[in-house]
Amino acid sequence: MTSKRIRKAVFPVAGLGTRFLPATKTVPKEMLPIIDKPLIQYAVDEAIEAGCDTLVFITNRYKHAVADYFDKAYELEQKLERAGKLVQLEQVRNPLPSHVRTVFVTQQEALGLGHAVLCAKEVIGDEPFAVLLPDDLIWNRGEGALKQMADHAERIGGGVIAVQDVPREKTSSYGIVATRGFEGRAGRIEAMVEKPAPEDAPSTLAVVGRYVLPPGIFGALESTGRGAGGEIQLTDAIASMLASGSHYDAYRFRGTRFDCGTHIGLIEATIRFALDHEKLSEPARISMQKALDELGVTDNG
Ligand code: G1P
Repeated sequence: MTSKRIRKAVFPVAGLGTRFLPATKTVPKEMLPIIDKPLIQYAVDEAIEAGCDTLVFITNRYKHAVADYFDKAYELEQKLERAGKLVQLEQVRNPLPSHVRTVFVTQQEALGLGHAVLCAKEVIGDEPFAVLLPDDLIWNRGEGALKQMADHAERIGGGVIAVQDVPREKTSSYGIVATRGFEGRAGRIEAMVEKPAPEDAPSTLAVVGRYVLPPGIFGALESTGRGAGGEIQLTDAIASMLASGSHYDAYRFRGTRFDCGTHIGLIEATIRFALDHEKLSEPARISMQKALDELGVTDNG
């Protein structure tokens, strides 16, 4: 295991997003906005902040919108330029800093998160890398979650997985880890299981969609059969590496995670970002209060 700094980040974005139909009939769920940025942009910003310069998107043949988003939009740029809308022009012209490149890989069959990560094998090669699930949006005023994890990974020279505590009745929605206890924010992982029933869960520490993985994960994925939900699970490949002695730490990052793969998570994230927004905070607060009052939810006397 190497303690090299991560440079490449993988974004599995080939899911169907059925929870958000009909919106996701034409708009990939990663393109759903929180205020004025799509979810994918938040994840990409976090990866770049952590030091990544190669962004690998695992897409399917229907997801042109993600590639288009990071591509040039000449007509729009011309229109904005002519209209003198220079701030917007800058946002459209440079969605990524100039040192960052994008790679798009097609996942031909939807065989699960593990399979999606395996699709990045040739692009990643023999170095540690990050995986970010853009549905998991992490709000934070300080350093991003992946930066915190990448720093930790460099220190320990092993894999790092983001975790948060969840109520026991929710374990069947997550990968769950068992650790040897924690020192500060990190604890060495002993076992990991995908979506266990509450009575079978080894703990209530749930995996959040941020991983720093060693390149050895690809060999493990290649020999991983279908697991929970009939899919090739990343969790199972990590579990097999743990069983053969690989070092992975669970990391309780600083920040609040919103599960934007669910309706309520997307709403909560929008509320949080609006209330923390320079210009929208005040009008958002007023509007929320008004909605509560008008719906008779609060009693103002
Ligand atoms: C995936 C992982 C799971 C993890 C979760 C975090 O599940 O398989 O281990 O806890 O992301 O969001 P999914 O939510 O894609 O079913």
